[in-house]
Amino acid sequence: MVVVEKVKEMQKIIDSHRSEGKRIVCVPTMGYFHKGHLSLMELAREYGEIVVTTLFVNPTQFGPNEDFERYPRNFQRDFELAQSFGIDYLFAPKIEEMYPDNFYTKVIVGKFTDKFEGVKRPGHFDGVATVVTKLFNATKPDVAIFGQKDFQQALVIKQLVKELLFDIKIIVAPIVREADGLAMSSRNVYLSEEERKLAPRIFEALNLGIKAVQNGERRRKQINSIVLQHLRQFREFFIDYVAAVDSETLDEPEEFSPGQTVVILVAVYLGKTRLIDNVLVTVP
Ligand code: PAF
Repeated sequence: MVVVEKVKEMQKIIDSHRSEGKRIVCVPTMGYFHKGHLSLMELAREYGEIVVTTLFVNPTQFGPNEDFERYPRNFQRDFELAQSFGIDYLFAPKIEEMYPDNFYTKVIVGKFTDKFEGVKRPGHFDGVATVVTKLFNATKPDVAIFGQKDFQQALVIKQLVKELLFDIKIIVAPIVREADGLAMSSRNVYLSEEERKLAPRIFEALNLGIKAVQNGERRRKQINSIVLQHLRQFREFFIDYVAAVDSETLDEPEEFSPGQTVVILVAVYLGKTRLIDNVLVTVP
């Protein structure tokens, strides 16, 4: 595996592979790899001959009071994991390479960004859309792979690709969970022992939502309240939002229709750690 830090070098390498007819797959990440990331890397291999993982903790997607400084980082560990997964290139630019002085441009996606994460984390999706655009231009992939855990992010990126005419196929890979149901996340390392024990209750609550839908509950508010009620039993959770919404549009109808796929989105604080999770369920 080759580590590349410079955009120009990355582009040159990709151009030479493309001229040989190779398909390029990009897995954008902020590093501190867990099994979720590794599943994306594994899947990437099915879509092309050259797999590039990007590793860049993007400052512009963190709010001023968020965890950019303390976001977990371990380059050596990430390098070894990516290498053991057969990644061809690890694109790991320095901040100055991605955001040189006098960098003024922002990519603002105008759909899916005005709710949930977009409201709770103002500017977050502008930062994501801007860096993803730059990562796409640096790695010029045919296919890019994102995780379902950041469900809204995946919709924003699909919209970005569609509207800015990127010729890139976006694949969204399922959430990978710990044995007790907690969705894998680099931020799980922030949890204390007590918090870690409680964290799987989030998936437990989401499963109650799934069951309710499968048993015929179609009223959106009722589905939300089943999930909320379960979470509220644990006073350690500070609930940011629980929202059952249409999985393609994020619309919030009074009642869902048979055949409609609903995503139940959750964001909670456990101590200082903000965790997000979601599940999909199709209305019978
Ligand atoms: O999902 C992430 O890890 C980040 O938001 C991404 C897509 C790599 C952009 O920084």
